[in-house]
Amino acid sequence: MRNTYVHGYSRREADRLSDQAGTLEELLHHDTVFPDGSRILEAGCGTGAQTAILAHRSPRALITAVDLSETSLKKASLRIDAQGIDTVYFHRADCTRLPYADHHFDHVFVCFMLEHLAQPGDVLAELRRVLQPGGSVTVIEGDHGSFYCYPETAAARQTVRCLIDLQAESGGDALIGRRLYPLLAGAGFNDIRVSPRVVYVDPSRPEWERGFSRDTFIAMVAGVGQVAIERRMMSPSAWQRGISDLKATIGKGTFHYTFFKAVGRSPGY
Ligand SMILES: C[S@@+](CC[C@H](N)C(=O)[O-])C[C@H]1O[C@@H](n2cnc3c(N)ncnc32)[C@H](O)[C@@H]1O
Repeated sequence: MRNTYVHGYSRREADRLSDQAGTLEELLHHDTVFPDGSRILEAGCGTGAQTAILAHRSPRALITAVDLSETSLKKASLRIDAQGIDTVYFHRADCTRLPYADHHFDHVFVCFMLEHLAQPGDVLAELRRVLQPGGSVTVIEGDHGSFYCYPETAAARQTVRCLIDLQAESGGDALIGRRLYPLLAGAGFNDIRVSPRVVYVDPSRPEWERGFSRDTFIAMVAGVGQVAIERRMMSPSAWQRGISDLKATIGKGTFHYTFFKAVGRSPGY
């Protein structure tokens, strides 16, 4: 499996993931609750932005959070310790071959990881292997094809297209949100429910302009600027114009994006 992570592991990206998690917490997690004493696997925890939310919302669940990146796991561990949380265990592990026995966990949680994988269906099947029969999988992913804004220029749209294309080249799929139902069904999960979580931003919601439009979405697109320019996907001036046009929606225009949250159940219960 190719595994070039398009967003990288910089400090700026860690901050962006934190801003994203904080801004979106109610929208994505108002219904994320796990029973006391249940064993949760968080796959691809990164720097722990979602881990902290899971631990706060289900304070008596036991969370095992895994990631490929040792650096991210260290940051995640510092974050969790700083918040006085003692229900999370971090392990370095590859979700394509998890070091756990069959049926080891009661529930599995995945957020913004499948979009970076060349074979997301295989990883979902591996997650199902470690789930109890009847245990749940929760997957949250975005879909950059759901983005539109007003005013919208060709240059702005092209910057987003560059991110989608670069992610596809590194083996991922920035349009994966629309595929969650078939992916979970293909991996053998039952009782699948997908709910779109719509982000709508206008100047009456300045906290969303800052937390989502500027610090989450535009920051993510801007993060691939250097590579997009080096690869001649856009000229430097067209890129700058596109990013400026995206920013110009703030304070006077609108911004739209849809996340998808899927919940399924492991069969055999
Ligand atoms: C966009 S980050 C999301 C982090 C976190 N879930 C969040 O929402 O803040 C994706 C993470 O998936 C991890 N990852 C990618 N492939 C993986 C694999 N095969 N096994 C474990 N982690 C993986 C990356 O190292 C990265 O930390």
